[in-house]
Amino acid sequence: MNKTAGYRESADSGYKAWLGYRPLEDGQSGQYGKWCAAVAADEQHPVVQRAAAELAGAVASFTGRTPQRTAAVEGPCIVIGTFAEGPEVLRRMFDADTAGRLGNEGFAIRCSEAEDCIAVAAAGPTGVLYGVFHLLRLMAAGRPPAELDVLEQPAARLRMINHWDNFDGSIERGYAGRSFFYADNRFLKDFARVRDYARLLASVGINGISVNNVNVHRLETLFITERYLPDVAELAGIFREYGIRLYLSVNYASTLEIGGLTTADPLDPQVREWWRRKAEEIYRFIPDFGGFVVKADSENRPGPFTYGRDHADGANMLAEALAPYGGLVIWRCFVYNCKQDWRDRKTDRARAAYDHFKPLDGSFHDNVVLQIKNGPMDFQVREPVSPLFGAMEETGQVLEFQITQEYTGQQRHLCYLVPQWKEVLDFNTCAAEADASVKRIVGGTLYGRKHNGIAAVVNVGNDANWTGHLLAQANLYGYGRLAWNPGLGAEEIAGEWISLTFGGDERLVKAIGEMLLDSWGIYEAYTAPLGIGWMVNPEHHYGPNVDGYEYSQWGTYHYADHHGIGVDRTVRTGTGYTGQYPPAVAGIYESPDSCPDELLLFFHHVPYTHVLKSGKTVIQHIYDTHFEGAELAAQFVESWQSLAGGMNEGLHSQVLARLEEQAEHAKEWRDRINTYFYRISCIPDQDGRTIY
Ligand code: GCU
Repeated sequence: MNKTAGYRESADSGYKAWLGYRPLEDGQSGQYGKWCAAVAADEQHPVVQRAAAELAGAVASFTGRTPQRTAAVEGPCIVIGTFAEGPEVLRRMFDADTAGRLGNEGFAIRCSEAEDCIAVAAAGPTGVLYGVFHLLRLMAAGRPPAELDVLEQPAARLRMINHWDNFDGSIERGYAGRSFFYADNRFLKDFARVRDYARLLASVGINGISVNNVNVHRLETLFITERYLPDVAELAGIFREYGIRLYLSVNYASTLEIGGLTTADPLDPQVREWWRRKAEEIYRFIPDFGGFVVKADSENRPGPFTYGRDHADGANMLAEALAPYGGLVIWRCFVYNCKQDWRDRKTDRARAAYDHFKPLDGSFHDNVVLQIKNGPMDFQVREPVSPLFGAMEETGQVLEFQITQEYTGQQRHLCYLVPQWKEVLDFNTCAAEADASVKRIVGGTLYGRKHNGIAAVVNVGNDANWTGHLLAQANLYGYGRLAWNPGLGAEEIAGEWISLTFGGDERLVKAIGEMLLDSWGIYEAYTAPLGIGWMVNPEHHYGPNVDGYEYSQWGTYHYADHHGIGVDRTVRTGTGYTGQYPPAVAGIYESPDSCPDELLLFFHHVPYTHVLKSGKTVIQHIYDTHFEGAELAAQFVESWQSLAGGMNEGLHSQVLARLEEQAEHAKEWRDRINTYFYRISCIPDQDGRTIY
């Protein structure tokens, strides 16, 4: 990908992503025309000023005319500000009741002929910024100004992005180039790019970012010391202007590795004191520091287990240090035995998070939030929802998604993940009330914990278009939109993203929308079947390898033999995992008759001749989906080719190249999987298609 100077301005690169603000059609610009003459903002708060600058820049790009920037409201304009400090007109246009209903981060937008303005108002500066980005979306979509009457506030309080960037510039599970924060163990200070990134994130409502990998290596451990805090503070300063708080992943064993102590025992007074002083120091550099993200006792990372302590001891110790400053400890629940013996059929990795954390419910401090991956395993194309959601009534929870496509095609394959995330958010855990959906838990309305939300491992790098595959931008955009409002539809989000990125031509929106919406199902069809997961090459996780993880230590097995396949996770005859769900859910998964087809092999070991609800046998399902999936992947190429001429040539060709690679690689998946199962089961394809 072109990384030379100029790509930032070039329309071919995709760098501007969904903030390209293409010229409005004459009609649309006409409707907004008179108000576009001026942008009025009289507050000096940096976030409000950023909002005003964004608005003015976008309006210039929409209309071709630079609006006047004013403090006073004189004549037709777009006026922005907070209810309390902004211009008087805002208090005339929105009553106190409206203002009261919006919360800290919400906003209101209205157009008034009488006042001769379009107004964006909010309780706080960040709400003003979100309101501006929302107005720009509506303008781009050609929504008539007269119809503007919007009241919005975010569903989830924490809406976070997690970077897995390393100080050397590599990105763990990154598929879009190198880090744009670091290179060669130094801070890159490409502030222009970081600012553009902050704009992208703020435009979809992100309010938190952790900037280093959860696997905190030697040098990154020093990020919380005087040596690097000035650099971290510079990054925090840029994100702050966009309402985004900075967090750091920390090394649980810091007291040992950089603190000169001989222990990291969370109950040791010296250890506690060290972290208290550390917090004090960090907040001197970054007064609004968000807090720590911690991966402890997970995949060989240090943690409290070494000292015979539990996760609550470890998390609370850090929480105590951060509490005086309002900081959070985001403690990850990705804890399991990663040195399992494949011969051991009793240990079930899927059970691990619940087994570790459920007994600790109620023992965490208020400023500890548990971060739980959406499924019990590890971001597979299909998994059930983690049983920990719903089970932790007295603990703040953050749901963790993976935007970076580690197991879903690594941004070389198209896989729009919003439909998958929606299934998770809509899933009713059946824990407490009739509606105990995951989205209510992360929104804090089910258990009413103070800190809840959503986090996701991001998919960006220094590739000119941010995400490698241009269409993977839709996942970043969609994640933010969904974290703000889980009620939005996957199709609606896709439509927004497509028109903001490629323009609102109906044919494009329809064709690209269909590709996005079909893509998850297609990827699933030609990869690991029926919820079994993995079947990828070890370590880098790209490409088919049915037994790649079968005899490994990672607890990720399919148990395929001549007769059947799948993991028995039932209470009756298996690992007992189904029993971690409330009875209403457990009952469905416990029996192969009621278990949904797409998760059958996650929960049950069945013969290849088992008949699915679809009426097909398991083996025929495997053959059919793999033939069809590869065919549909090839059709992506044709669909995309048909759009040539309808969009910027550079954008068209970069996506085409990825889709061609996907089509080829999907055939490899098809043939490897089908051949493996034909050879092992000796059951031929009913349709006699070529299997090797
Ligand atoms: C997966 C991933 C690792 C990552 C880990 C985590 O296992 O492959 O690279 O470190 O998840 O979430 O901590």
